[in-house]
Amino acid sequence: MRHDRLSCCSGFILALLAAALLTGGCNRSQPETGPGAEKKAKTGFTIGMSQCNLNEPWRVEMNAQIKAAADKRPELKVTFKDAQNDTLRQRGHVEEFVSAGVDLIIISPKEAQPLTEPVAKAIDARIPVIVLDRRVLGDKYTCFIGADNQKIGRAAGQWIVNKLGGKGKVVELKGLMTSTPGQDRNRGFRQAIAGSGLEVVFEADMKWLEPDARKEMESALSRYAKIDCVYAHNDPGAHGAYLAAKAAGREKEMRFVGIDALPQEGIAYVQQGILDATFQYPTGGPEAIDTALKILKGESVPKEITLGSRVFDKQTVAQGGRQLP
Ligand code: FRU
Repeated sequence: MRHDRLSCCSGFILALLAAALLTGGCNRSQPETGPGAEKKAKTGFTIGMSQCNLNEPWRVEMNAQIKAAADKRPELKVTFKDAQNDTLRQRGHVEEFVSAGVDLIIISPKEAQPLTEPVAKAIDARIPVIVLDRRVLGDKYTCFIGADNQKIGRAAGQWIVNKLGGKGKVVELKGLMTSTPGQDRNRGFRQAIAGSGLEVVFEADMKWLEPDARKEMESALSRYAKIDCVYAHNDPGAHGAYLAAKAAGREKEMRFVGIDALPQEGIAYVQQGILDATFQYPTGGPEAIDTALKILKGESVPKEITLGSRVFDKQTVAQGGRQLP
């Protein structure tokens, strides 16, 4: 009898121990070493990638780079969702990834404020989040990866001050001002031209979109008889402005400066003499997959990964641009 009770008791303790072992691997932000981690590594990891819009070549490139990097890692499976430039839809995508229980989320958010809460909720659910290119507010995310937009804006401002000999009339076509790259590219640019003879005669939010930039530029052209330079926060914006100026027969009167420097877009425009300069904004796709792997293996990663940038203009385009200091 006594013997029976003892074995029953130890059986219960063993069951408890087994249950504790089985539930022990649920902290996704820090996969554990030991048998649980081995099992995870064998079955692989799911990553949910929330892209804010796939209507711009730069974002198509970001997804392609993420896919190419992930394809080299058989243990990774990436599910892509495209929010089609709709903030509410993007919020829904992040929530769907959380309820699906993905192992990690990568997000390139459309706007900072509205995407802050769903990202924070993913962190609360212990799902690590890599924020790419545009920021959310606060610091409730695992890692931010992007280039220094204020520095790029400053470099663009200095470039324009130099090329215009310190004075002239400028049009600034801004990216979406509820997104952080738009705010930073504006701030850096204004810092660089402060105290020079450059005057911003017209500014508008073209929301990163070429058709909007073209329309805004048409108004600028109709209001100002002389424009010396267009500074657009991205290359589609600079190209839209160029098309408007060309349609008005005025494209030779001014310079066009953009940001992104995709080989098939901004760099090609500089080679064709459409843009005068473009500043590279790397997508961060490969770095996101590197960082995701580290997080999933339980390694620590920096809170911020700042990518470099290069300027491509007539002088430097043939030699692959020049690194910003
Ligand atoms: C694409 C894009 C790029 C720009 C980036 C800023 O949506 O507008 O052209 O550099 O987003 O977040």
